[in-house]
Amino acid sequence: MLDWSDVEIEEAPAPVLTQKPPVLVTSTPPIATVGAGRVPVSNTTTSSAQLAVDSSGGRVRVDDKAMINCRADVNQLLPLKYKWAWEKYLAGCNNHWMPTEVSMQADIALWKSPNGLTPDERRAIKRNLGFFAASESLVANNIVLAIYRHLTNPECRQYLLRQAFEEAVHTHTFQYIVESLGLDEGELFNMYREVPSITEKASWAIKYTQALSDPSFQTGTEANDRAFLRDLIAFYVVFEGMWFYTGFAQILSLGRRNKMVGIAEQYQYILRDESIHLNFGIDVINQIKAENPRLWTNEFQNEVSGMLRSAAELEAAYGRDTMPNGFLGLGPGLCEQYMHFIANRRCAQIGLAPVFPETENPFPWMSEAMDLKKEKNFFETRVIEYQTGGSLGWD
Ligand SMILES: [Fe+2]
Ligand SMILES: [Fe+2]
Repeated sequence: MLDWSDVEIEEAPAPVLTQKPPVLVTSTPPIATVGAGRVPVSNTTTSSAQLAVDSSGGRVRVDDKAMINCRADVNQLLPLKYKWAWEKYLAGCNNHWMPTEVSMQADIALWKSPNGLTPDERRAIKRNLGFFAASESLVANNIVLAIYRHLTNPECRQYLLRQAFEEAVHTHTFQYIVESLGLDEGELFNMYREVPSITEKASWAIKYTQALSDPSFQTGTEANDRAFLRDLIAFYVVFEGMWFYTGFAQILSLGRRNKMVGIAEQYQYILRDESIHLNFGIDVINQIKAENPRLWTNEFQNEVSGMLRSAAELEAAYGRDTMPNGFLGLGPGLCEQYMHFIANRRCAQIGLAPVFPETENPFPWMSEAMDLKKEKNFFETRVIEYQTGGSLGWD
C-alpha cells in the first residue's frame, strides 16, 4: 500500500534559517576544500573533487556551509546544516519502487482491444507518454550536468543523487510501458522533437540548462548566480511543478474510470516522487534567496512571474493539442484553468504575487488521488504492502 504519510503534497513552507546567512566573499578567490582542509583555488568548489587533499585546514563548522559559492569542504555531510534536505533524502529512500512491480495485464488487454479506448483517449495517452518519456531524461540531465555542480552543499547533493536515481526509475517506467503495450518506441521517444506542442515546452526548458552545463560556466558573479536560480525555477517550479501536473491529471482521470490502471498506478508513484522533488526545489530556491537577497530584485521577480505565465500558456497549448475534444470530464479549458491554479500556488511558494486571477481547482479529485489513505480502493491493483527496504508484495 502506498504510504503518503511522510510526503508533503505541494506544500513547502519557507525554510527557517537557524544559522546566520554566510557572508559571500567575492573580492578574494573562492576557496574549495577536500578532506579536512580548506584551500584557495582559482575556481569554485565544483571542481573540488579533482583537488589534492589539504590536511592543514580546520574541520567544517555548520556556519561554513552555504548553498552556492560555498567555501567549505563539500565532502563532509556532517554536521548537517539543511535538515530539510536530509529529511527529503530519507523520504525519497522510503518511497523506493520499481515500475516492473506493477502489473500491466489489464492495460495490455484494454490497449489491444479494438473498442477499449476511444481515438481521443489513445491520442492523449500516447502524447502524454511521449511528453514524459523525454522529460524525465531532460530533468535528469539538468540535475547531473548543471545543478549538481553548482549546488555546493553536501546534504543537498545527497538528495540530488537520490533524485537522479528516481528520474532514472521514471525513465525506466516509460521503457516498460512501451515494451508492455508494444508501442512504437521511435514515435514515443521522438515526440519531444516531432510534436510541436511538446517541442515548444522542451525548447523553453532546455535554454535554461544550456548555460549552466557549459564547462566554463561558474557561479560567483551576480549574473551567474541569478542564472543558476533561473535554471532552478525553470526545472523545479515549471517543469516538475507545473507541466507534470496536467500529465498526472490526464492519466489519473483515466485510472479513476478503471482505464489503464497499471499506468495510473505507476503515475501515482511518480507523482509521489515528484511532490518531493518539487518541495526540495522550492526549499533550495528559497534558501538561496535568503542567503543571497541581492539576487531577488524586483526586475528578476518580474522576469520569474513572466516565466510562469508563459509556461502556463505553453501548457494550455499542450492541453488543446493532446485532447482537442476532451474526454472523461477533462478538456483543454479545464486544463488551462488547472494550470492557472497551479501557477498561482507555485508563485506563493516562492514568494511572488499570483500571476493569474484567483481561480478554483477544477480537479479537486487530484488531491484525493494523491492520498491513498483516504481512498484505499481507488485503483484495483494488487499491491498489498510496501515498506522501506522491502519489495512490493502481491496476492
Ligand atoms: Fe521524474
Ligand atoms: Fe522529478
